[in-house]
Amino acid sequence: MDRWKGRVALVTGASVGIGATIAKELVRYGMTVVGCARSLDKIQALAAECKSAGHSGVLIPMKCDLTNAEDIQSMFAAIKAQHKGVDVCINNAGLAHPESLLSGKTSAWKNMLDVRTHCGSEILMRHCFEAFRDNHNCVVLFSLQSISPGLVETEFAYRLHSKTPGKAKETYSQLKPLEAIDVANAVVYVLSAPPHVQIGEMLLRPVEQQA
Ligand SMILES: NC(=O)c1ccc[n+]([C@@H]2O[C@H](COP(=O)([O-])OP(=O)(O)OC[C@H]3O[C@@H](n4cnc5c(N)ncnc54)[C@H](OP(=O)(O)O)[C@@H]3O)[C@@H](O)[C@H]2O)c1
Repeated sequence: MDRWKGRVALVTGASVGIGATIAKELVRYGMTVVGCARSLDKIQALAAECKSAGHSGVLIPMKCDLTNAEDIQSMFAAIKAQHKGVDVCINNAGLAHPESLLSGKTSAWKNMLDVRTHCGSEILMRHCFEAFRDNHNCVVLFSLQSISPGLVETEFAYRLHSKTPGKAKETYSQLKPLEAIDVANAVVYVLSAPPHVQIGEMLLRPVEQQA
């Protein structure tokens, strides 16, 4: 990971769960990590935790709602002004609503798709490619499911089943799920590969998960 020391990573959805753990790990390896999400206070708390742990990198919290194209634009303007661009983009943010495809609310599906595809991928990735400081030495992860985890124990199911928290608990108690650090370790593995090695896709599954 030495070659990434002092270089800039953008991690979306860095307030909790997988994104927060990835952000913390990259800071531990000496990277300058811009962590974004809507809950700025949670990223600020994580940044303080990284600082007091004495990690060699730094976490810079930025508030950004990925359903809002203007938020994304302002974030990249700040990244360009403060860091001249990014070297690594971990496009991790995402959420789900308990709405079925056939009878679910259109607004809920729009929100999920805005975060993962329209704003969160199309607009974010366009800005990201423009912001790459060195196009021959950059890494994009997660956006097109380049790292695809199975069940990971995070806030995801608790947010999905916010009205029926018992269901969320049940999701994580039926088998031993992955932990956020398992996914963060996969990210570190990808970044640790020598510059001539490109890892296209990684599938991670809990051993007990059937599908
Ligand atoms: N957990 C799993 O089993 C699992 C499995 C496969 C793939 N994944 C994927 O992995 C990613 C991370 O999941 P997780 O398990 O860590 O979920 P999580 O604990 O619920 O965290 C989701 C993150 O996404 C951010 N986010 C949601 N809506 C956003 C928005 N409009 N703008 C900016 N940020 C937003 C949240 O931040 P704020 O709420 O602060 O904005 C939070 O940081 C997601 O894309 C998910 O689909 C998860």
